[in-house]
Amino acid sequence: MVAWKNMDTLKAYQAMAEKKTDVNLKEVLSGDAGAERVAKYCVPMAEGLAYNFAAKKVDDGILEDLAAFAKEAQLTEKFAELAGGAVINTGENRLVLHHLTRGQLCGPVVADGTDKRAFYETQQKNIAEFTKKVHAGEITNAAGEKFTTVVQIGIGGSDLGPRAVYLALENWARANGTLKMEARFISNVDPDDAAAVLNTTDVAHAIFVLVSKSGTTLETLTNESFVKDALEKAGLDPSRHMIAVTSETSPLAKNSGYLAAFFMDDYIGGRYSSTSAVGGAVLSLAFGPEVFAAFLEGAAAEDKLAMNENLLENPAMLDALIGVYERNILGYGSTAVLPYSQALSRFPAHLQQADMESNGKSVNRFGEPVSYRTGPLLFGEPGTNGQHSFYQLLHQGTDIIPLQFVGFKESQFDKDVVIQGSTSQKKLCANVVAQIIAFACGKDDENNNKYFAGGRPSSIIIGKKLTPQALGALLSHFENKIMFQGFAWNLNSFDQEGVQLGKVLAKRVLAHETDGALKAFSDLFEI
Ligand code: F6P
Repeated sequence: MVAWKNMDTLKAYQAMAEKKTDVNLKEVLSGDAGAERVAKYCVPMAEGLAYNFAAKKVDDGILEDLAAFAKEAQLTEKFAELAGGAVINTGENRLVLHHLTRGQLCGPVVADGTDKRAFYETQQKNIAEFTKKVHAGEITNAAGEKFTTVVQIGIGGSDLGPRAVYLALENWARANGTLKMEARFISNVDPDDAAAVLNTTDVAHAIFVLVSKSGTTLETLTNESFVKDALEKAGLDPSRHMIAVTSETSPLAKNSGYLAAFFMDDYIGGRYSSTSAVGGAVLSLAFGPEVFAAFLEGAAAEDKLAMNENLLENPAMLDALIGVYERNILGYGSTAVLPYSQALSRFPAHLQQADMESNGKSVNRFGEPVSYRTGPLLFGEPGTNGQHSFYQLLHQGTDIIPLQFVGFKESQFDKDVVIQGSTSQKKLCANVVAQIIAFACGKDDENNNKYFAGGRPSSIIIGKKLTPQALGALLSHFENKIMFQGFAWNLNSFDQEGVQLGKVLAKRVLAHETDGALKAFSDLFEI
């Protein structure tokens, strides 16, 4: 039986807090010992990735303490409970089943009389069949012409993950001749978002994927009407151009105005839905179902590693606990995800939702306030672009912000150029290596303005190339990291009540049911 306890009641946590060891990165990374540390503090991930934490503020003693903490907090047992179908989402009284979309970690999970693995596989099969017909020209527009573009309409988890994954693999697919259809995305209720996409899309040859788990999201329903209106004005029948991805209980599921409908369910949170039908439809249409299957394969392989009890064989749990150490023992309030890969340009945006909507909570899973810090603020941008933007603050600002780099040895396209003795890819990699040491070790200078204090911790996930499998493993790593941190903080990471209040007030504003400051602000916009 697992026991859900607040972090500060655990002996292993209290012991760590008492010691409060702060490792001197400059010291531990210097000389031969530093080189040995880079080789030693590195754990293999799935699909040829590796998690290197040599530039994190840990030592063997802290790692032992973190392992003792993981054990006392029963982190892997809690994951096993989740994977086995326990009601982990206490706020909404739901199972948490996104892992089942890519594999079966424990025995069968039956809910509502259905084997859930079979349900998700059926959806994938249905999507694959539909997709193949679209690609083969068996499902066409009314004029019998092939669809060439897929446009996803959705917001939050129904946008960010699938969009980040599409962008991450678009160039890989081009390079490998497997880009079947270009994908576009409409998410914001800002009419300029839909208009900009529609103005630059050949709507007569576009298939729209309406994605909403709840089927009630204001932005998505508004954008659906926006698109239908544009299709009708172009003399097209919207029902020949739209498919839906939703839960079987949502109002959209009962609507017959779609070419096809595919399903996820209430046991998959929006921000964890990239590997469900939510990501499956758009990504299979864009790249082909085989590429989507390869992405799932990578995620499944990484999920398996997350079951390991041994902290040093479980990269997601290790990453999670180093993060807890930084947040709660060292007191760092933010973290940045910095992929040295342009293809991962929207990956930090996806992680913003995945992480902050999951662990941005002040009450534990029983609704009681916790008296320790929980999820950090997360932001990020690809390098090297970020270096020319906010890295000034990261290097010399008054806050220490732990960093999470991601980098690959090879680019997705073969096209590269040698200038001054190195390729662009080597220059990219050289920059991330330089940043790790610059942040960790700093630089002395008599001029304070040019002085770098160092002591700024980072980790890096390194891979050979960003492929569908590697991306799946990367996504799973971060999803599981967030899950383990939620377990450590004793949170329910799978609801999101914090987004509701604003929605309710926006409805009141639109209904003109306002007074006081709410009315005054509304009047500023002449709503
Ligand atoms: O407002 C937040 C949220 O509920 C997210 O959690 C979710 O990903 C998003 O809205 C979209 O929800 P839906 O898929 O139900 O339209």
